[in-house]
Amino acid sequence: MSTTQHSGEPLVHAVNVTKSFHGNQVLKGIDMDVHPGEVVCLLGPSGSGKTTFLRCINQLESIDGGRIWVDGDLMGYADRGGTLHHLTDKQIAAQRREIGMVFQRFNLFPHKTALENIMEAPIQVKGEKKAAVRERALALLEQVGLKDKPSAYPAQLSGGQQQRVAIARALAMEPKLMLFDEPTSALDPELVGEVLKVMRQLAKDGMTMIVVTHEMSFAREVADRVVFMDGGVVVEQGPPNEVISNPQHARTKSFLSRMRQEEQEHVEHLLEAAQRKEPDLLADVEGGQTAAGPRD
Ligand SMILES: Nc1ncnc2c1ncn2[C@@H]1O[C@H](COP(=O)(O)OP(=O)(O)OP(=O)(O)O)[C@@H](O)[C@H]1O
Ligand SMILES: [Mg+2]
Repeated sequence: MSTTQHSGEPLVHAVNVTKSFHGNQVLKGIDMDVHPGEVVCLLGPSGSGKTTFLRCINQLESIDGGRIWVDGDLMGYADRGGTLHHLTDKQIAAQRREIGMVFQRFNLFPHKTALENIMEAPIQVKGEKKAAVRERALALLEQVGLKDKPSAYPAQLSGGQQQRVAIARALAMEPKLMLFDEPTSALDPELVGEVLKVMRQLAKDGMTMIVVTHEMSFAREVADRVVFMDGGVVVEQGPPNEVISNPQHARTKSFLSRMRQEEQEHVEHLLEAAQRKEPDLLADVEGGQTAAGPRD
């Protein structure tokens, strides 16, 4: 458990969450509390259930057992005298609106500009006034470092820029909670740093975040707590310094050593690119702004 003491109610309170697909149990009783302003990095090998758990939190998947509360709301169900009743699609959509999600693939509307992509949901879903939304969307573009790109279409933006628009789009709904599912893993290595920088700032500004990531230096620097999942259970969790630097379980140790090897390959890639006289990248490497960050 985190050594941080939290007084108030958790923002996310998940209790014994189970989920199967066609008889294959993917989540085997996940308990997780995330407190307001806390950043939790979720690590684990492929197939361990990380994406499924995030999708259960925002009700893109229904759960088979257990309960998930977000800000006191029981997700997906109404509890009437101890009996659970499914919420309607409309009620679930209302709950989901409070939660921002950023995926590996950004899925921006290709025929809309960056600004229009960000403005879409607050206007269409929340029915907000266009002028106010526009102002907020412009501020968000600035926040993600794309002040000069309001009129750019996704195809005119790099992967890193598109992902930053996707983050701004999620923030435009003024979510209570942000879920990130490997937001940098589809990016060219040299574009990872700019996205992590935006996420780092968001964390500093106090956003509550659950981040599935393989970016160990990001987890080490930004996470209040690291949760290692394997085979649909939480194997180990705690402050990044404990879990990443001194894992207790064999499964955590072997996963982390694989990650370190990947990080090493990533650094080598960046150095090679830098040697091909790409000074921006060299600055990244030297400034520790990349996915790999400073070495141990
Ligand atoms: N819609 C689905 N239908 C059937 N099986 C699914 C579905 N979604 C996920 N699974 C299975 O559930 C297991 C966990 O998948 P999940 O995507 O949650 O893992 P993950 O930890 O996010 O992995 P990765 O690191 O590869 O993204 C996998 O065995 C996967 O094949
Ligand atoms: Mg996944």
